[in-house]
Amino acid sequence: MSTPLPEEHAVLLTGPVLSGKTALVTGASRGIGRAIALRLGRLGASVAICARSRDDLERTAASLRNEGIRTLPIVVDLTRAAEVHGMIEQTCSHFGEVEILVNNAGLGMFGPFHERTESDWDAVLATNLKAVFLTSRAVAPGMIRLGRGHIINISSLASKSAFPGGAIYCASKWGLMGLTACMAEDLRAHGVRVSVICPGSVATEFSSHAGRNPATLLQPEDVAHAVAMLVTQSPQSFISEVDVRPLRKA
Ligand SMILES: NC(=O)c1ccc[n+]([C@@H]2O[C@H](COP(=O)([O-])OP(=O)(O)OC[C@H]3O[C@@H](n4cnc5c(N)ncnc54)[C@H](OP(=O)(O)O)[C@@H]3O)[C@@H](O)[C@H]2O)c1
Repeated sequence: MSTPLPEEHAVLLTGPVLSGKTALVTGASRGIGRAIALRLGRLGASVAICARSRDDLERTAASLRNEGIRTLPIVVDLTRAAEVHGMIEQTCSHFGEVEILVNNAGLGMFGPFHERTESDWDAVLATNLKAVFLTSRAVAPGMIRLGRGHIINISSLASKSAFPGGAIYCASKWGLMGLTACMAEDLRAHGVRVSVICPGSVATEFSSHAGRNPATLLQPEDVAHAVAMLVTQSPQSFISEVDVRPLRKA
């Protein structure tokens, strides 16, 4: 039988603690981003969500609205600076300054590096690294004005280990670790936390997870829970990095 959470933790992670705050979750039409958007909305935030495919995005927006969550779906290609700029303007005029940004959108392309193309490299690096720079750069001035905020980047345990076929993806996620750490140093004096979550394999459409026992995969909600923990941390602390692994390996 599982032990119930202490009362104050249950309140911290389920009550409307984010009421009045604006969150933006990228790549929230499905998978991990969708779970994060739902979680932040259930904590009371107004949530802007984005992706390239309108149909998936509208389906997720409908799920959020069904729960009474204020949401704004925005179709955007995050690799284009002008579109990112428009997305932030739209979000701020609809809900107010973004206080929580979750850079979740990501792309995986796997295979021996000598068999991959230049366009594979460009697509993965633009989505997993450049888009994080563009989106964070667009929200940072508002967070600095407020004197608070969270930027949470979804990296991967692939940012810390090498495996065959992982060259382009690992390069993007290792780069993301450096980008996150330096952004954190630029913004912490302004009261803004920039942190990174590194999940292991998560059961989404991202990859086939061939050969893996499905019981050992994380669920999108596990990553969403880590986001909820980061945005409810104590006022003096700065949790900069969270690794998320399944409890049981086999
Ligand atoms: N699943 C895993 O095993 C795993 C493990 C560790 C880390 N991660 C990381 O977790 C994050 C989410 O992964 P996931 O498994 O949820 O992936 P997913 O199911 O493939 O979802 C990716 C999301 O990103 C959006 N997206 C991709 N490119 C975009 C672009 N250029 N502009 C706007 N939106 C874009 C997709 O929508 P559209 O295609 O419609 O744009 C979708 O909403 C990624 O950063 C991934 O690297 C995943």
